[in-house]
Amino acid sequence: MAVAVRESTPNPGPSTTAARDADERERRTRAYGESLLRALRRQERRGGSDWLYNRMIGLATQDEATKVELFRFVDALPALKTPEAVSQHLRQYLLRPDISLPPGAKGLLAFLERTAPTRRLLAAASHTGARMMARRFIAGADAREATGAVTGLRRRNLGFTLDLLGEAVTSEAEALAYQKRYLDLIRDLSDIAAKWPENPRTDQAPFGPLPKVNVSVKLSSLYARFDPMAADATVQAVKERLRPILSLARERGVFVNVDMEQHDFKGATHRIFREILCEEAYRDWPDVGIVVQAYLRDAEDDLLSLLGWTKGRGTPVWVRLVKGAYWDYETIVAAQRGHPVPVFSRKAETDANYERLTELLIENWQTLRPAIATHNVRSAARARAVAEEHGLPPRTVEYQVLFGMGEPIGRALAAEGERVRVYVPFGELLPGMAYLVRRLLENTSNDSFIRSAASAGKAEELLADPTAAALAPVPCPGTALTPGDSRRKGRGAGGEGRIP
Ligand code: FDA
Repeated sequence: MAVAVRESTPNPGPSTTAARDADERERRTRAYGESLLRALRRQERRGGSDWLYNRMIGLATQDEATKVELFRFVDALPALKTPEAVSQHLRQYLLRPDISLPPGAKGLLAFLERTAPTRRLLAAASHTGARMMARRFIAGADAREATGAVTGLRRRNLGFTLDLLGEAVTSEAEALAYQKRYLDLIRDLSDIAAKWPENPRTDQAPFGPLPKVNVSVKLSSLYARFDPMAADATVQAVKERLRPILSLARERGVFVNVDMEQHDFKGATHRIFREILCEEAYRDWPDVGIVVQAYLRDAEDDLLSLLGWTKGRGTPVWVRLVKGAYWDYETIVAAQRGHPVPVFSRKAETDANYERLTELLIENWQTLRPAIATHNVRSAARARAVAEEHGLPPRTVEYQVLFGMGEPIGRALAAEGERVRVYVPFGELLPGMAYLVRRLLENTSNDSFIRSAASAGKAEELLADPTAAALAPVPCPGTALTPGDSRRKGRGAGGEGRIP
């Protein structure tokens, strides 16, 4: 008996559906990315101070050695009290044969450092130059100036989080002063904010109202002996200093975000955050957040453990997802100590992890409120694509950018209807220098998105999926052998015939 063969529509298996979803997500990512890039290019064409600044910094930092020496000089400058000291450091850092400066600059510096009156001029010009650079990234020297900056941002429909500069304080007097400045800031700014008109673009999310005032705190600034090796004492002392800040913030309706610092401090930072927020006074308070750094190999574990903890707590917290600002430091310190390096070694690995964690956050947005903090168009576009795929209304996900660095992409995202917050540091130049130098290094690193976008990188490259590059094997030095080579030579890349 002949068996009738029925024409059937093949049922797409789970892997086919997953592949189709991935293609669709990639298509949306590209479309959003292209739209953001077009907006950025339009802003660039309009020119202005960003264009001039980028050209100036570009000229001065074309060469890696020059860049490092220039930033070492900027870092040292606030501590140099006499024109002679400034001139001596300039000579040591910049007037060297291996350092290349723009045409004429070396001759001018050599001339200015010759006599006492010109040395004074040189010192004054150096301080003014550094202050101008700092002004770009630091919103003001005090709360009054910073308040001016954040009201300006609100007028342009951008939210803010204020950060009082300073990290790893060296005395308890400094730590107490830091705590007091935060208390004053929360009190004064919440009084001022009470008179601000409501702005739905910054003060409302689809799931409810958001605090108008938002501050970011580095826990190492609250205790002079912040020491992961003495974890219990550190946790107790920091919690004591943090409680008055949290209580006042809660009473005044102010949001508090805990920043993340170097890897060594991560364990204590998470412990303090979790222990204190499970105390009766704060357990049902949703206006708090923490940072996860995607360049850490164990970032996904941190996020999953945070998810479990938040479910147990019963009230959502915010997670600001960043890539991580201490990459050089982590790499160098681990090598010095002979420890495994906690960060990925390739930029694409960090980018791909950022995308994985973005997805994890957005899937769990009701428990961990996502704040996507990046200046990378591909990373931001990916978040938009994933949010759309999960059916989240616009402005559920928050986008965050740094003052002086990320406003162009922040403006572009806001123009497309997203909710954007600007991280606004303020404070004196001296404690701010570590922050400033990190920003300058980031802005001029060859791996940085900002640098490639500023030099008009190709959309195809800027929006490329990082996953394939992240999975590509790392070539070992000296492995440029074709498959037949090892057999011909009788040994492998390791030499001495050890590899068959
Ligand atoms: P981009 O796509 O250019 O990525 C640069 C980043 O890639 C580097 O910063 C580094 O993490 C990583 N990277 C570079 N070279 C690499 C390599 N060879 N291998 C592996 N990874 C490499 N940071 C932090 O540590 N703690 C914090 O609390 C905050 N807070 C914060 C708030 C806000 C609002 C923003 C926008 C940023 C921060 N950051 C931060 C800084 C953040 O971690 C990051 O340094 C910058 O945002 C740059 O990353 P992008 O995604 O913007 O750019």
